[in-house]
Amino acid sequence: MASSLSLLTLLLLTVISTVKSCPPSDRAALLAFKSALTEPNLGIFNSWSGYDCCRGWHGVSCNPTTWRVTDINLRGDSEDPIFQNLTHSGDMTGEISPEVCKLDELTTLVVADWKSISGEIPSCITSLSSLRILDLTGNKISGNIPGNIGKLQHLTVLNLADNAISGEIPMSIVRISGLMHLDLAGNQISGELPSDIGKLRRLSRALFSRNQLTGSIPDSVLKMNRLADLDLSMNRITGSIPARIGKMRVLSTLKLDGNSMTGQIPSTLLSNTGMGILNLSRNGFEGTIPDVFGSKSYFMVLDLSFNKLTGRIPGSLSSAKFMGHLDISNNHLCGTIPIGSPFDHLDAASFSNNDCLCGNPLKTC
Ligand SMILES: *[C@@H]1O[C@H](CO)[C@@H](O)[C@H](O)[C@H]1NC(C)=O
Ligand SMILES: *[C@@H]1O[C@H](CO)[C@@H](O)[C@H](O)[C@H]1NC(C)=O
Repeated sequence: MASSLSLLTLLLLTVISTVKSCPPSDRAALLAFKSALTEPNLGIFNSWSGYDCCRGWHGVSCNPTTWRVTDINLRGDSEDPIFQNLTHSGDMTGEISPEVCKLDELTTLVVADWKSISGEIPSCITSLSSLRILDLTGNKISGNIPGNIGKLQHLTVLNLADNAISGEIPMSIVRISGLMHLDLAGNQISGELPSDIGKLRRLSRALFSRNQLTGSIPDSVLKMNRLADLDLSMNRITGSIPARIGKMRVLSTLKLDGNSMTGQIPSTLLSNTGMGILNLSRNGFEGTIPDVFGSKSYFMVLDLSFNKLTGRIPGSLSSAKFMGHLDISNNHLCGTIPIGSPFDHLDAASFSNNDCLCGNPLKTC
């Protein structure tokens, strides 16, 4: 009797679990999140109604086993199929409600490219210990990055680009050991890069352009074995380029343009055959351009314009395999422009405003 009762209980439980829906607390948190936002054009939040937030709520996904909310994925750009038949992109006002922090199994929070979402990043966000992707890019979010952001130990993507975030980069950020993609570009972030930023061993893209960062590039950057793309352009970075930066194994894009950097261009940077995009324009770099190019040099962009470079254009440049966009204008270079296929397609603007360069495409020597 007892065993058949428990069998019945088991059966009942099985039936109940197959008709699981999202927990009322998750649903309430989502509704509070929704009520802090206004999206007038598309009506995406119209789908956020009914009892089961795991079914049919635009941008919401749940864990199929626990039926807890794991993803909020709301993009205001045309990548979302909801925009398929629309010519305009999304617009949303309001703020990110701290109620979102009650979704404590959230792994993805993407509320990106809605242009007008303001307010601050809720500080409780750092309690979402399962969070892997935090993407709030393309809004008007202000305030600071939470100081204890390092608590988000599972974060792989932190994208806060193109907002109005100020303050400094929290020191704790270097504790996010699995971070692969960090994009803070286009904000008002000041202060220096954390000196031990090199602890972020998995980081492959580090994008900081268009901020107010000061100080120099920490030597610890050289420890980031997976760093492929470092963009510090349009900041107030000073100091020189770490000499061994060109030895970094996978670094292929380095943008340092529009800063106040000085010193010489390390030769390893130009001899590194994996380097494809190098922009050092508008700094105070001096000395000569190292004569270290070779038949494996392949630059989509090599922009050294608006510096204080002297001497001649290195002859080895003419042996480069490819030179897509070369700009060495507005320096103090002198002498004959070398002849060779990398130079064939370049016009005078690439060489203009130097002290005494001559030869095709400038005037004959
Ligand atoms: C877009 O329009 C097509 C054809 O008119 C329609 O079949 C499709 O469902 C629409 N897509 C969306 C997301 O509204
Ligand atoms: C290099 O940086 C300068 C200054 O920020 C910018 O104007 C230029 O377009 C960049 N060069 C290329 C080829 O992107």
